[in-house]
Amino acid sequence: MNYCAIDFGTSNSAVAVPDGAALKLAPVEGAYTTLPTSVFFNTDEDTREFGRAALGAYIDGFDGRLMRSMKSILGSPLADNSTDLGDGSAIKYTDVIAIFLDHLKRSAEKSASAPIDRAVLGRPVFFVDDDPRADQMAQKQLETAARSVGLREIHFQYEPIAAAFDYESRRTNEGLVLVADIGGGTSDFSLVRVGPERMKQVERKDDVLAHHGVHVAGTDFDRRVELATILRELGYQALDPEGREIPNRVYFDLATWHLINTVYAPKRVSELGLMRHLFTEVKHHDRLMRVVERRLGHALAAHAEEAKIGVAAGGETVIDLDEVEDDLRLAFDEAQLIEAGQDETRRIVQAARDTVQTAGVSMRDVSAIYFTGGSTGLAFLSGALAAAFPDAEAVFGDRLASVATGLGIHARRVFA
Ligand SMILES: Nc1ncnc2c1ncn2[C@@H]1O[C@H](COP(=O)(O)OP(=O)(O)OP(=O)(O)O)[C@@H](O)[C@H]1O
Ligand SMILES: [Mg+2]
Repeated sequence: MNYCAIDFGTSNSAVAVPDGAALKLAPVEGAYTTLPTSVFFNTDEDTREFGRAALGAYIDGFDGRLMRSMKSILGSPLADNSTDLGDGSAIKYTDVIAIFLDHLKRSAEKSASAPIDRAVLGRPVFFVDDDPRADQMAQKQLETAARSVGLREIHFQYEPIAAAFDYESRRTNEGLVLVADIGGGTSDFSLVRVGPERMKQVERKDDVLAHHGVHVAGTDFDRRVELATILRELGYQALDPEGREIPNRVYFDLATWHLINTVYAPKRVSELGLMRHLFTEVKHHDRLMRVVERRLGHALAAHAEEAKIGVAAGGETVIDLDEVEDDLRLAFDEAQLIEAGQDETRRIVQAARDTVQTAGVSMRDVSAIYFTGGSTGLAFLSGALAAAFPDAEAVFGDRLASVATGLGIHARRVFA
């Protein structure tokens, strides 16, 4: 039987399969070789959609439930809970993950024209920060989900180490690379000795000088952007008649993907309705109520992400909130993004420094930084990281495919 290598990401996923002596990425949605990590349970038509189609069906207003960022639930007690699908049925979060993994495995089997029962799965350096037991549990939950779809032999590899293998495959000399994998949910760093001679070995433990990660990445920037722009127009940080800040929980929940649905619970909606007297500007309350009544939370979060990507490489954009209120438009530029996310940027750069420091290596000994993960498209962020290592060459990999390719390289060594 054949094997595959799965990059199950918070935001995007991909799967690599052997292709003769080489590797290829399997098409996972039409011709695309990466897809958003999302499943839409369409209760209108009793179907399931994956990836872009899932997001599309949700936006088109079909009845049902959109599940995204399922990876972030791993390691939390919530993972074994069930979530309502809206038609009276319910499903466990870990089963949603299994359904998604099954989609990836089937895509891999189709691409390889063979059944698959072995896999290398990527994992972040930490699923859960500062809690080794929860972290262990997260990996176990992911493994159980993978087994439930027929993968019998499973190996894990750290995502940034996989990216290092991808980088290494294009190098001709030895060096010390700091891999910066800045994704949706986590920013992971690994300091790895790479080189053509080292590539021949399967066991590379000694070449990994340090790895370190933090739970701060793309979705945290989205949150900051949403709070600083859109949600301010709905009363976030506004003061009540007595000069106190309006209770902010609803805003934080609206800005957090997996909590958005909690805001729509009838009890919360009526509580929010009763808060009207606290709003010095009633238009803020009107907009907030329109958002919860029309269930626009996910759409607002998507606007924040779009705005972030829109200015990622410098420039400006407009956030169009027509669905909340006619002609409500907010200008947004890179300077605002930098300011909204300064704390995140600082923490990510610090994690990179800590990684190198843990290894007992001087910043100057790092010969290259290899950037991968969607959030390395944020020019100010990769710039801040590069500035912390002035002697390192900045190398940009394929933002969304390096990890899957690197996991494939590892799988070939393990299974061949
Ligand atoms: N052009 C871009 N510029 C900036 N950010 C981007 C761009 N494209 C995608 N992103 C962001 O990249 C993130 C997703 O990156 P990626 O697909 O690498 O994450 P992931 O692998 O799913 O997550 P993780 O590795 O944390 O589990 C999202 O937050 C998305 O908004
Ligand atoms: Mg990733």
